[in-house]
Amino acid sequence: MARRPLVMGNWKLNGSKAFTKQLVEGLKAELANVEGCDVAIAPPVMYLAEAEAALVGSKIALGSQNVDVNISGAFTGDISTEMLKDFGAKYIIIGHSERRTYHKESDEFVAKKFAALKEAGLIPVLCIGETEAENEAGKTQEVCARQIDAVLNTLGASAFNGAVIAYEPIWAIGTGKSATPAQAQAIHKFIRDHIAKQDQAVADQVILQYGGSVNDKNAAELFTQPDIDGALVGGASLKADAFSVIVKAAAKAKN
Ligand code: PGA
Repeated sequence: MARRPLVMGNWKLNGSKAFTKQLVEGLKAELANVEGCDVAIAPPVMYLAEAEAALVGSKIALGSQNVDVNISGAFTGDISTEMLKDFGAKYIIIGHSERRTYHKESDEFVAKKFAALKEAGLIPVLCIGETEAENEAGKTQEVCARQIDAVLNTLGASAFNGAVIAYEPIWAIGTGKSATPAQAQAIHKFIRDHIAKQDQAVADQVILQYGGSVNDKNAAELFTQPDIDGALVGGASLKADAFSVIVKAAAKAKN
């Protein structure tokens, strides 16, 4: 089954109103004629309004870097699924390693966010991945399985229908040291097989992105791998030209 690739930009804690407008305009210009790859950007939620306005007339989808599990009420500082929908956001990153590390988000809490997104009709982009120490200890598969099982065991395999998983080895994030295409492919295959044990059809359609130092130089080779369906891009998503090269590489490799 052919899966449509998805390249998503995770801007993290970067930008301003002017930067958002400028970057979106740049992306619209660079990507106007690119077919065969879904594209999304996740600016800081502060700038969703600017991004939404700038994206009018474009196929680039809007996303966010996080969401809370509650819809409304006394939850100071949180952002709900309904608020994200209000701005037309579609792809919502959850469980990013920076949230797991700096905000102590557990597998169980991330699974609740996954449930909240499904309930709201939004697309979860579930980030998983091992630390360098876990990698060196040969625990990569165990860690990825545990992070996925938190969702599988509470919501069932069908929750991954229409969902996205981003495999982001923590040692590769922002380090300039990407996993090799073969390394990433091996884990992506493991992830797909892990879901297939519960439901083959769900596993066949789930979008598996690779993330961690993806750039305009290494993207094309990563996308040659059969189970790498796109990328979650941090640093290189802040430059319209580099991000567009990555999108075009995915469109070319997968069509
Ligand atoms: P990076 O970040 O591309 O800057 O390594 C990826 C991510 O954390 O999503």
